[in-house]
Amino acid sequence: MRILEVGCGAGNTMFPLLSANQNPNFHIHGSDFSKTSIALIQDQPLYKTHNPQHVSASVWDLGNDSDSLPPGVGENSIDIVILIFVFSALHPNQWRHAVHNITRCLKKGGKVLFRDYGRGDLAQVRFKKGRFLEDNFYVRGDGTRVYFFEEEELKDVFKDSFQILNIGVDRRMLVNRARKLKMYRCWIQGLFIMGDEQDVEEAVKIVDAQGHLPVWMRNKEDAIISGPVEA
Ligand SMILES: C[S@@+](CC[C@H](N)C(=O)[O-])C[C@H]1O[C@@H](n2cnc3c(N)ncnc32)[C@H](O)[C@@H]1O
Repeated sequence: MRILEVGCGAGNTMFPLLSANQNPNFHIHGSDFSKTSIALIQDQPLYKTHNPQHVSASVWDLGNDSDSLPPGVGENSIDIVILIFVFSALHPNQWRHAVHNITRCLKKGGKVLFRDYGRGDLAQVRFKKGRFLEDNFYVRGDGTRVYFFEEEELKDVFKDSFQILNIGVDRRMLVNRARKLKMYRCWIQGLFIMGDEQDVEEAVKIVDAQGHLPVWMRNKEDAIISGPVEA
């Protein structure tokens, strides 16, 4: 089981996975645009204990158009790519390159686990006028950028290379009682598979066997929303 997390940041996903792992064949590679993030990760005791057998990390730009893969990651070598709040940092004109780069890393039947900002999230509503770059695309005070996705456009970005097993919008109202604040959060989450019908069937079986699934993954009948267009 080889996992690639792109935009791993400080390792909020990598390290819990590494801690919970009991599979001797598990390996997770963290990649991030930021040298500081990668240095921070490589300095963690858990990293030092499990590197190189179960964990590795490298600096890499997901949106690069030079066909480069993360250093240490081979072509068609990855079972699962994790993308958590990283696609939103790309300029929309980098999305196609990013999908292409991910497909090169994945094995046939490989999956993408996606989570990011949804259209209308509190963070979008709060942006002031001067922070607007393009439709639904903003720049934060620290210079990083953020895009707010809509379900249909996310399907469009992935559908030519992936079967979209599921996609869903996760809306929550969080309440800060002390400040008497209601916060409307909106995230978008998806599971995409790079493979054929048989790969999808196998993935659905795994999903079925899990028991307590998040709402957006529960409806088996609706499992395949769209797939690559046949030539
Ligand atoms: C909002 S943080 C999310 C970090 C982590 N996934 C998490 O959920 O805690 C976005 C991360 O994506 C990284 N990033 C931004 N653009 C990137 C790119 N083009 N390629 C790779 N990583 C990128 C940033 O450096 C940052 O660490």
